[in-house]
Amino acid sequence: MSDGSSFYITTPIFYVNDVPHIGHAYTEVAADVLARWHRQAGDDAWLLTGTDEHGQKILRTATANGVTPKEWADRLVETAWKPLLQIVDIKNDDFIRTTDERHEVNAQKFLQHLYDAGHIYTGEYEGFYCVGCEEYKQPSDLIDGTGEFAGQQVCAIHSIPVELLHEKNYFFRMSTFADQLLALYEENPDFVQPAAARNEVISFVKQGLSDLSISRSSFDWGIKVPWDDSHVVYVWFDALLNYITAAGYGHDDEKFSRLWPATHIVGKDILRFHAVIWPAMLLAAGIEVPRRVFGHGWLLVGGEKMSKSKLTGIAPSQITDTFGSDAFRYYFMRAISFGQDGSFSWEDLSARYQSELANGFGNLASRVIAMVVRYCDGEIPTPTVFTEDDELIRATEKRATDAAGDAISRLAIHEAIAAIWELVDELNGYITSQEPWALAKDPADRARLEAVLFTAVRGLGTLAVLLSPVVPQATAKLWQALGGTGELTDQRIDRAWQWTGGTHVSPLEALFPRIEATVG
Ligand code: MSP
Repeated sequence: MSDGSSFYITTPIFYVNDVPHIGHAYTEVAADVLARWHRQAGDDAWLLTGTDEHGQKILRTATANGVTPKEWADRLVETAWKPLLQIVDIKNDDFIRTTDERHEVNAQKFLQHLYDAGHIYTGEYEGFYCVGCEEYKQPSDLIDGTGEFAGQQVCAIHSIPVELLHEKNYFFRMSTFADQLLALYEENPDFVQPAAARNEVISFVKQGLSDLSISRSSFDWGIKVPWDDSHVVYVWFDALLNYITAAGYGHDDEKFSRLWPATHIVGKDILRFHAVIWPAMLLAAGIEVPRRVFGHGWLLVGGEKMSKSKLTGIAPSQITDTFGSDAFRYYFMRAISFGQDGSFSWEDLSARYQSELANGFGNLASRVIAMVVRYCDGEIPTPTVFTEDDELIRATEKRATDAAGDAISRLAIHEAIAAIWELVDELNGYITSQEPWALAKDPADRARLEAVLFTAVRGLGTLAVLLSPVVPQATAKLWQALGGTGELTDQRIDRAWQWTGGTHVSPLEALFPRIEATVG
């Protein structure tokens, strides 16, 4: 992973019918941590995010608010979705909107190509549709409604009634790709992750695939079908293409061959679109399939997926205003196994902030730096004799670096952080057992004091490099206080334990200040 190879990673593009909640921010942060990690590993990393702006859902919201869908999308993108990136500190390389000309024009090229190659035919769709999911539904996808919808069939995700459509549509011959897809899952076991998601996708495809309706003709908010402008492209067909139109498909071949194929990070609710429909579209067009598709779990509230429509959404700023963006990033990446569902609680967030970030990491950094200032006038010692205890820290630095890198290559972000935290815990234990404050009292222990402080400073430097993708702001401050040379984000993460260090420390403010106010 350190050979300068391309690492193109994407988030889903977000519907602009509403403002973001922490479930959306969770997807963004996970992709950003992976992108930052790969950048620091010397890879040509490229993070794409953006917004999904066509379709009935947006059209209806805009109409209900008395504006055009484009006006509505512009407003939400500028006031909510782009600001989200600042709020949780995302370093994206591009932001695509499906209303961008570069997307619309090249999505049309893709569609025309499939049409010319005979993969598309005219038909009629008669069946259910959930506007919340923007998805055609089978009767088996529906459940019995409750409360005001008792006696009706409702969408299992949105708990609201689906609509019955009867429209002339264009269809994509997706059914012809079932065998190729099964071969893909078989030959490339990492294509869909985690394993449970892969199994689900395989059994879904084994049941047989239907052809897919890829246009709508009862409204006009979308990309026009190039050979028939009485139809607009089905919003998911349009949206999935963002991953290639943003990467240069149809207009910048050099960029496209540099970036593609991508790693897609998506919520498990939209896994099938990415692991079935999307590779089938690409196979039809003769384009390489994605590198992998990872379906992460949901943030749950009361055991259900957090969502705005169910009024359980928490705005990311509610957390970051109090705890800061680093704590947001750390908490969700650490507390939830990536790929599993997780429940958010203010108590858990506060407890981890205090014990892991403030006491575990922040205090360690402040104490070590304060001791170098106090006992060595800020000069980082250069000892030559080390004991076994010092060597053990050295070994942990190397082990944490390797284990974290290995975990990231498996997209196991929580495991990477856990491996790094072994170093935090060992360094804390080391300071307690070596008692540098006691060594400082006796000039005869000077050499030992210097070896301990040097070892602790070097361990902190390793931590700064390793934790930079997760808590970029705190580690940048720490790096500066350690007198690290160059930008922290330029330090090779796969060689974090080899950092060469500075000569002087400078005072460090509390990295994770105590939070007094009660929250919740
Ligand atoms: N527009 C489509 C994606 C098109 S990608 C070509 C979409 N948008 S969305 O805004 O509804 O959701 C975007 C992402 O947010 C999805 O990955 C979804 O799983 C994620 N989340 C929405 N609610 C979530 C939680 N409660 N928890 C975790 N992630 C959640 O789907």
